[in-house]
Amino acid sequence: MRSSVVRDMFAVTSDPRTISFAGGHPGPEAFPVDELRSITDAIISKYGPAVFQYGSTEGHAPLRRNISALMQETYGLLHDPEDILVTSGSQQALYLLCRVFLNPGDLVITENPTYLGALNIFRSFLADIRTVEQDEEGMNISALEECLAELASGGQKPRFIYAIPSIHNPTGVTMSAERRSGLYDVADRYDIPVIEDDPYGMIRYDGLAVEPLKKLDARGRVIYVGSFSKTVSPGLRTGWIAAQSDIIRKCTIAKQGDDACSVTMAQFIISDFIESGAIYRQIERVKEMYREKRDIMAEALREMIPRASFNIPGGGLFLWVALPEELNAMDLLKKCLERHVAFVPGCNFYTDHGGANMLRLNFSFPSRDRIHEGLVRMAEIVEAELARSGVLN
Ligand SMILES: Cc1ncc(COP(=O)(O)O)c(C=O)c1O
Repeated sequence: MRSSVVRDMFAVTSDPRTISFAGGHPGPEAFPVDELRSITDAIISKYGPAVFQYGSTEGHAPLRRNISALMQETYGLLHDPEDILVTSGSQQALYLLCRVFLNPGDLVITENPTYLGALNIFRSFLADIRTVEQDEEGMNISALEECLAELASGGQKPRFIYAIPSIHNPTGVTMSAERRSGLYDVADRYDIPVIEDDPYGMIRYDGLAVEPLKKLDARGRVIYVGSFSKTVSPGLRTGWIAAQSDIIRKCTIAKQGDDACSVTMAQFIISDFIESGAIYRQIERVKEMYREKRDIMAEALREMIPRASFNIPGGGLFLWVALPEELNAMDLLKKCLERHVAFVPGCNFYTDHGGANMLRLNFSFPSRDRIHEGLVRMAEIVEAELARSGVLN
């Protein structure tokens, strides 16, 4: 098992002096505190002790219905509430899926780079992780096909393909429609399930209507994983798996042995939050806030660290930044931490030794002023490092 750098930095990043671009934390101003308070009061008055009781492993039935309604309303995705498992965050969803699918040494395929929290789970199950490169349109489907053909010629078959098609973490890339159907076709041809991890798809603020991969899924091949962490609150630890009933059944058994059920009160709260329609207003608010913060960070970065290059993501919480190749983001981080600025060095998202000059910057958590101040400090350090490495000479 490997510890997550983001979790390890938690002590440093929770120091109020530190300006953290590291975690995937929503902005504290984004939480709908007043609405959540009145919903909490209302559900306690209405349901009393039931709110404090154990719940079913599958999840609070009204929440499963409301998640189904949310997916239909947002994506036009029809999915039977019976085939939804409520999880303790999408992190648990990924963990349960590995419990169900993986034996030590089993093959899994991921994009390179990818979400480090998923990599750490795959590693803890002793998975053999194979990666497929991606570009600004997402996963390279020819490379995926080559990889699968090569494995098949050796009699090997991956247990699943793990992908983040919408607003990828860390790259911010959204897979094009063509690549999505390519991914689905290839997975179908080789008979491999696809785990679609989608914590950011609902906070897309570039105005594009992008449908999840699950929408293409005629044969129950796609396992959709959703989360309320970035839209409502990560502290409520609520996510879900929407998949075929046999997979849901097995994940439910795995969950019985993991935490028996997700927190009952959180499920009641989120269920009401969806049913009242508050979630749709909340998602619009969050999009507005993060679009503004993204633009503030992008502009400050262009001005202060002009040698940094990056694409503007269509949503989500992060900028994925390339520094000149002479710079090493791990070394930079040490210096930045001395000045109380934190970020995640890009190498943590790779399974090989890639991404040494890359870094992931979170813009949702810090205030506008702190985004600015943090980048001022980073820019000074980057300048000094560039001068030291001879790039500026
Ligand atoms: C791609 C991805 N998947 C899953 C998670 C886990 O989120 P949670 O467990 O809070 O739902 C995250 C969190 O940042 C993420 O970025």
